[in-house]
Amino acid sequence: MDSFGKLFLIGFMGCGKTTLGKKLASRLGCDFFDLDHILEKKVGMTIPQFFLANGEDAFRQLEREVLTTTELPDNAVISTGGGLPCYFDNMNWMNSNGTTIYIFMPPAALAVRLDNDQIHGRPALQGKRGTDLIAFIADKLKERESFYNKANLIIRGIDITAEKLVGILQANKKSS
Ligand code: S3P
Repeated sequence: MDSFGKLFLIGFMGCGKTTLGKKLASRLGCDFFDLDHILEKKVGMTIPQFFLANGEDAFRQLEREVLTTTELPDNAVISTGGGLPCYFDNMNWMNSNGTTIYIFMPPAALAVRLDNDQIHGRPALQGKRGTDLIAFIADKLKERESFYNKANLIIRGIDITAEKLVGILQANKKSS
């Protein structure tokens, strides 16, 4: 099986980083890591609880610490929180330590997925729904896109599968 080093999946909340990441890791025969999940285990609280108790600045600091101090094997698929690439030099750090893959999805598609997934109580969405949610995502995505676009690979989230992504990674490896 080909090995691709550390593959960091980045993109807006709801774009499918965790679902695609798990399938990709299983196809590649490597481990999958979810940095949000590692952070929650470290502090013994959910992310909404941590935001409420300590605020967003503390969350971003901790998120950075988890990114740079978690011991990861040479080959791994890592899913990151939607805001992580946009703080400190996290994007450069990931590009220096592996390959970043931005899963792009337009705001309306993200809104449908996030509206159906309110159970995760993402604090960054502040309970928004419907057209309010689409407008909020469109604004945030505009703010974040310059960071996301620094990714080594940009893929369309709507029709991506783990199998297709492995093909893209192989083609990219050969051409680089
Ligand atoms: C956030 C995204 C979340 C989580 C936190 C903040 C954001 O991760 O890190 O709620 O600012 O976009 P997911 O993208 O995995 O939902």
